Amino acid sequence: MSGHGTPIPMTSRPCGPLKGEANVPGDKSISHRSLILGAMAVGETKISGLLEGEDVLDTGKAMAAFGAEVINHGGGNWSVHGVGVGGFAEPDNVIDCGNSGTGVRLIMGAMATCDITVTFTGDASLNGRPMARVTDPIALFGAQAVGRVGGRLPMTIVGAKDPTPVRYEVPMPSAQVKSAVLLAGLNAPGQTVVIEKEATRDHTERMLAGFGAEISVEQSDAGRVITLTGQPELKPQTIVVPRDPSSAAFPVCAAVITPGSDVLVPNIGLNPTRAGLFTTLREMGADLTYENEREEGGEPVADLRAKFSPNLKGIEVDPARAASMIDEYPVLSVVASFAQGETVMRGVKELRVKESDRIDAMATGLRLNGVEVDEGDDWWIVKGLGHGNVPGGATCESHLDHRIAMSFMVLGMAAQNPVSLDDGGPIATSFPIFEPLMAGLGTDVVRG
Ligand code: S3P
Repeated sequence: MSGHGTPIPMTSRPCGPLKGEANVPGDKSISHRSLILGAMAVGETKISGLLEGEDVLDTGKAMAAFGAEVINHGGGNWSVHGVGVGGFAEPDNVIDCGNSGTGVRLIMGAMATCDITVTFTGDASLNGRPMARVTDPIALFGAQAVGRVGGRLPMTIVGAKDPTPVRYEVPMPSAQVKSAVLLAGLNAPGQTVVIEKEATRDHTERMLAGFGAEISVEQSDAGRVITLTGQPELKPQTIVVPRDPSSAAFPVCAAVITPGSDVLVPNIGLNPTRAGLFTTLREMGADLTYENEREEGGEPVADLRAKFSPNLKGIEVDPARAASMIDEYPVLSVVASFAQGETVMRGVKELRVKESDRIDAMATGLRLNGVEVDEGDDWWIVKGLGHGNVPGGATCESHLDHRIAMSFMVLGMAAQNPVSLDDGGPIATSFPIFEPLMAGLGTDVVRG
């Protein structure tokens, strides 16, 4: 739906304990990268467990438009016959990335060093988000971009004919920007160097190594220094996509705040650049345990058990952990509402430029439901009321943002009164099975 369809109002009513297994979908970040790197390899990449959410499906369509053969074999099994680094064909039409910042930014990077011209667009949310963070570095390779005022989509990118490699220090903690530069570096001769002050999710680096690229990562005083040798022949891979910790966050947080709950989330990715929420929840007193820890396809995975945790306390979240839980602050703010005392979240300016301004969207909805929130440019504080004391009862706006929508549905599960949503349609971008999965655990989320 992601803003194109009729709004889908939803209501979440207070419910009994959540029980059972939550088989959440594949990781969104890894799914996008599997399709894009599969399209840049020579030969057939096989992917199982792909997230079949709208965001990823849009990236799949884009890769087909660039000349790769993208085949859905059913049951989450896909294959991509890639065209090789530098082999992208010019699409016949505009590339519509829907709601997906990851999709558009990574694809812009991947095509920036190909001799083709591509126009990108998206939904109202994506067309309002900043793209200069990608067009600035790809200009250093020789690509040109013309977009709307403020560097917004729709935007046309003329790829570099004779790309030169770059050395680029990423100015904000952003895995999307880092990845766009690395993907552009693939088709530039020589070494492209990307430096990030704070570590962000490293799936692109891991996957590039898996596809046979020459890539090294060193820690220096300036941060993580990633060096990639351009123009490799990427070798097709067999990829098993782990389940998404960012999707797991919803049943996990719902279990933690709902009396009597005991939920197992099997097989979730626990890459340390993604698992910050679970560390934070434990610091707050949540009953979480990792079972069966192992490694699959170059990524750490485990089964995660979450139980109702009656004595949650507010904490100051370590800002150094922000990048590793950047997508989880909305649902953390819900858990914080049920904790005793204040939860302080600092160093989170990036939340203002996600699918929505996530601080504003959550603060507004939480206040409507009786929770006090203070906020500044790059911080916010949720004043927890303690278990059983969150009034609820209001209708919130999802602002075309899947994570805002799901967070308010979690709020309704343990509040005193139902919580409603103007539009749950955006949930399909990342978690298309949210409603049946949550119903299977015993929650009461209905349309209307
Ligand atoms: C993502 C990176 C993050 C995250 C997004 C997915 C990725 O964005 O919020 O949902 O797959 O690289 P930024 O890199 O812009 O912080």
